[in-house]
Amino acid sequence: MNARELKAIAWSGPAETGCLRLLDQRVLPLTEAWVECRTTAEVADAIRDMTVRGAPAIGITAAYGVALAVQAANRARKPDAEVARAAMAAADLLAATRPTAVNLFWALDRCRELARAGAASAAAYLERAKAIHDDDIAGNLRIGELGAAHLEDGMGVLTHCNAGALATGGYGTGLGPIFVAHEQGKRLSVFVDETRPRLQGARLTAYELSKVGVPYTLICDNMAASLMAKGKIQACLTGADRIAANGDVANKIGTYSVAVNAHHHGVPLYVAAPRSTFDLEISDGSKIVIEERSPAEVTEWGPTRTCPEGARVYNPGFDVTPAKLVKSILTERGEIAPVTRDGVARVIGR
Ligand code: MRU
Repeated sequence: MNARELKAIAWSGPAETGCLRLLDQRVLPLTEAWVECRTTAEVADAIRDMTVRGAPAIGITAAYGVALAVQAANRARKPDAEVARAAMAAADLLAATRPTAVNLFWALDRCRELARAGAASAAAYLERAKAIHDDDIAGNLRIGELGAAHLEDGMGVLTHCNAGALATGGYGTGLGPIFVAHEQGKRLSVFVDETRPRLQGARLTAYELSKVGVPYTLICDNMAASLMAKGKIQACLTGADRIAANGDVANKIGTYSVAVNAHHHGVPLYVAAPRSTFDLEISDGSKIVIEERSPAEVTEWGPTRTCPEGARVYNPGFDVTPAKLVKSILTERGEIAPVTRDGVARVIGR
C-alpha cells in the first residue's frame, strides 16, 4: 500500500445528509472498523474516547463536527441566525474534549469565522472542513519532502507515539519523512517506541509502517537510550501537539526523555508539525495545558490489574521539550533551525 492511501477520516455523502466516518483507532491494529458519526455529540465523544486522536486529526474531525451541527439545524429549519448560533455552540462543545493539541482550537476558530460571518448552509461548513483536511494533507507531503532530505540510506531513525496518516488528515508529519525516504529507495532502520501507556507506537505506527511495507523494529520506550549508546540511531523524528512562540514543543509523554537522551548522545531530534500546531499566543512551553488521563491506563493491562490496589498514579498525556533540545522543526512553510523565538517568527509569523 502507498502511504497516501492510508486514511482515518472521511466524509460520506452530501452536506445536507452525509456523515463523518472514522477509522476506530481504539481497536487497531487487530480490528479495522469504521465508526459513523451523525451528530456533533458523537464527534465530541469520538475525540474524547480517542476513536480519533493525533493533533491535526482531532482538529479536522472537529471541523466536520461543526458541519454536522449546521446540518441538524438546517434539517430543523432554523432561521440563519440560529444556525450560526448552533455552529458556535458546537464549536464550544468540541473545544471541551481534549486540552493540549492546539490544532483543535485552531480548526474550530476557522469554523467560528464562518459563523460570525453569518454562514448558515451545511455546504459552507462542510467546504471549510474539507479545506482544512485537504490543506493538512498537502502540508504533510511538503513536510515529508523536507524531512527526507535529512535521512540518508542506512540511517537508524527513532519514532515516538504515532504522527502518521492516522494522526493527521493523511500521510503524517513525523512519519512523512520516513515514507518519502522509503519511496526514494533509502533503506532505514526504523525503531518504533511502543509509547506507554496507550501504545500508539506499537498499535498505530507499527500498523502504518507494516501497511506501507517499511521495515521497522518495535522497542519498549526504555530501550531507546541503549540503542543510541550503541550508535544505532542517527535521527529522532516526532510530531507535536502544540509549539509555543519560543519553539518549546508539547508532544506525547516520553518525547522529553527521547530529547534528553538524543541530546546526550549527539543525535538530532527533528519535530515535524504544520502551522496549525503553533500557538503564537503563548510565549513558552510552561503555559501549555497538559492533559491528565485516567489512572486505569497505568494500573491495568486490558482486563488485568498490574499493580497493588490503591496505587497512586501520575498519568500526564504529554510533556514539553525545550526548544534547545530540538535540532529543527519541519513545517510546510519551511524549516525552523535553529529553534528559537526568531526562527519561529521568521517561518511561521508572530
Ligand atoms: O494522545 P494522542 O494519541 O492524541 O497524542 C498524539 C501525539 O502526541 C502525536 O505525536 C501528535 O499529536 C502529533 S500527530 C501528527
